[in-house]
Amino acid sequence: MSENTGKTAIVTGASRGIGRAIAVRLAKSGYNIAIVDACPLEMSKDCEEEVKALGVEAKAYQCNVADFEKVGETVAQITEDFGGIYILVNNAGITRDSLLLKMTEENFDAVIAVNLKGTFNFIKHCTPVMMKKREGRVVSISSIVGIEGQAGQVNYSASKAGVIGVTKSCAREFASRNITFNAIAPGYVETPMTAVLTDKQKDAIFAMIPLKRYGQPEDIANAVNFLCSDDASYITGQVLSVDGGMHM
Ligand code: NAI
Repeated sequence: MSENTGKTAIVTGASRGIGRAIAVRLAKSGYNIAIVDACPLEMSKDCEEEVKALGVEAKAYQCNVADFEKVGETVAQITEDFGGIYILVNNAGITRDSLLLKMTEENFDAVIAVNLKGTFNFIKHCTPVMMKKREGRVVSISSIVGIEGQAGQVNYSASKAGVIGVTKSCAREFASRNITFNAIAPGYVETPMTAVLTDKQKDAIFAMIPLKRYGQPEDIANAVNFLCSDDASYITGQVLSVDGGMHM
């Protein structure tokens, strides 16, 4: 039996891409998994079955992370279904790219609502549950562009820089409660989100990666798994770049 048996991890945006890889990796470490995604529940079925096949409990929940009340209901349901929450991984995210001169207010607000407010919403509702057991791990997925900025991504880079601010402030607020907060800043990872880029854009990114390969969802998932493990119990308020050396 794993030392993590009975502990539960919430992973947002877990039906595909990086979130799904995180759900599977944490399941391999023995955690039960609450799969949260805005998509219809049928679309989370594959992930749910893959996780269950690893011998842990799993259940999918349809929830828009930007909806504060719905997040509250979902966290309450997960707490009832699983008996507690040990890990929260804020992974759900969207892009609405364009240069600032063409960026609409709607597209700015939409990205902030999901990527930044969604992170706040889940932290806000999960921390009271974690505090009862005086332990918890929160890992939020930021981005290299939250550190460096990126032309065409004012909304996205602002949201991801915001995630770093939330992470560091919460790390200070909750350290005495034994809840750690860290962020991961991926570089380029091959997922449906990045599949929309042109070959020219992908080639330009490839040229900036010292390790000379694109990131895979599992690269991010392994880092999340480490930050959730006992080996990382003395690490909080950090931003871990997982990007093949793009940002140094
Ligand atoms: P993806 O688009 O493949 O998957 C995102 C998942 O989030 C989808 O399942 C989607 O349904 C879900 N989602 C979107 N909006 C939601 C909402 N409002 N509520 C609940 N779920 C929602 O994206 P990918 O590539 O797997 O990205 C995962 C995270 O990693 C995102 O936060 C993204 O910004 C971040 N990231 C990705 C990079 C990449 O190169 N793919 C690089 C840096 C960061």
